[in-house]
Order: sequence, then C-alpha cells, then structure tokens
Amino acid sequence: MTVTDSSTFDPAWLERCRHYSNCGLASTRQHVVVSRGNPQARVMVIGEAPGASEDEQGRPFVGRSGQLLDQLLQLAGLDPAADVFVSNVVKCRPPNNRKPSAVELRACRPWIDDQIARVDPAVVILVGATAVAAMVNSKQPMRGLRGQWIHRNERLWMPIFHPSYLLRNPSREPGKPVSLTVADLRQVQEWLCQGEPASSAPLP
Ligand code: URA
Repeated sequence: MTVTDSSTFDPAWLERCRHYSNCGLASTRQHVVVSRGNPQARVMVIGEAPGASEDEQGRPFVGRSGQLLDQLLQLAGLDPAADVFVSNVVKCRPPNNRKPSAVELRACRPWIDDQIARVDPAVVILVGATAVAAMVNSKQPMRGLRGQWIHRNERLWMPIFHPSYLLRNPSREPGKPVSLTVADLRQVQEWLCQGEPASSAPLP
C-alpha cells in the first residue's frame, strides 16, 4: 500500500491517507489513489473510484476513461495538468470495478471533504452518477442532471456523464453524449473565463 501521488498537500496529510485502513477495500488495493493535477486549480474533477489501471499506477483517471476525460477537457479548452485537480469519492479500487458500497463511501468521505476544503475550488465537475449522489445527494438520472449548474455550499457543481458511459456510446455526432459532455465542460471553461466563450471547434 503506497501513495505515489505526492502533489497533494502536506506530508502528514498524505501519510494519514496512506495508512488509512478503516475499510474493507484496504485489504485488496495496490495503491491508495489520492489525486493528480494542480492543487491550486479553480476547478476540481471528482469521479467514482479507481479502476485497475489507477490501482496499479496510484493516480486517478489514467486508464481508458481517464484518457478520454483528458481529451474532452482539452477540447473544452481546459488543460488537465494545469487547470484541474482530479480525485475520486473513494480512494481504493472496489474489486472487479463494482460500485462502491454505502459503507465504503462513508468511510472515505472525510478524505474528499478534506481535499475540497484544501483545494477550495470555485467549480467542481462531478463525473457520473455515483459522484453526483455522494456529493450533492441527487439520485435523478444523469440525462436530466448533466450540464445543469448546481449551487451548493458556496460552490458551483457541474454534473457530467462518466467517460466509461461515453466509451460505450462513442458517437461524436452533435446531440450525442460525447458532444454533450464537451458542451458541459465548455460551460465550465467559459465560466472560468468570465463570460468569454470557448472556441467551438468541431469534435475530431
Ligand atoms: N473511473 C473513476 O471514476 N475514477 C477513476 O479514477 C478511474 C475510472
């Protein structure tokens, strides 16, 4: 069990996170997957939980879903290394990529709350239904939630489709989930630029 991402916060905080074992996932994980990106960013991206690649490498969103997420952030004019700080509501991989249980979500909750408090982002992008349910307590279908700003706890929250869903629905036609997600991310980029519209380059 090792935390390989040392970009987050002070060593004492990382040490506590690294040794956290008050949850069944501690016995099957390879790494505690803490974060990647810029801790000073004004935008935070929060996903569900690490998958196999993330567990192996100790960094969030580095597998196929993560590569697509980065590509879509870039299309929306956001630099994945400089403009966002990336984490998950659960820091250890659930076996076989199952959804994290309510107990696991509760056990991990203090870590994501702490990360949000320390990064203090203006905008939080919530990636997929599990992150939305955990962070803003909404169980509505993603179809209705995505792309709609949520004002909560003096922050703006933007739900988007999970990239694993986009990988299963890869069409880049206008109106399809991939292009809707780029539009959702462009809303974030435009908000950051205080009203300056992002370029509307066609999807490659
Ligand atoms: N899916 C997630 O929700 N988070 C990751 O880090 C990787 C895949």
